[in-house]
Amino acid sequence: MRILFVCLGNICRSPAAEGVLRTLAAREAPDLVLAVDSAGTGNYHIGEPPDPRMIRAAGQRGYDLSVLRARQIEHADFSRFDLMLAMDRQNQSDILERASSVQSQQVRLFMEYAPEIGVPEVPDPYYGGPEGFERVLDLVEAASRGLIARLQSS
Ligand code: 4NP
Repeated sequence: MRILFVCLGNICRSPAAEGVLRTLAAREAPDLVLAVDSAGTGNYHIGEPPDPRMIRAAGQRGYDLSVLRARQIEHADFSRFDLMLAMDRQNQSDILERASSVQSQQVRLFMEYAPEIGVPEVPDPYYGGPEGFERVLDLVEAASRGLIARLQSS
């Protein structure tokens, strides 16, 4: 299964999701064969490492994001990945604008995998305080566990 996480800048939410899913899957579901990547709908941060606030918050939970580099989503991603998981509805509609009707079926909101939380979107932490980065990690951990459970049962 090949999974692409998508946010706006690819420096906060989607690299966090990439690092969290990769680490939790390796630890809790070592039999799952996953390819995980992330990209942004915007081009502002191409080539940059994740935001230092995200690197620090994720590092404190045992996720190393420091080697990741931002890139922009590209059309080939629709054939490279089985699932494209958007962090918020704006990201989702920006992906869908580039998708054919067949391709649109592989696009979901990531938080659909943690319905028990009752939060449809992972909020953008970029302009807020440190609590926003902890919130992103809480949501991303819950949705990653839900996604792993779904993949294991399918
Ligand atoms: P991300 O957060 O989409 O979670 O990576 C953002 C990063 C940068 C900007 C916005 C959101 N920006 O406007 O530069």
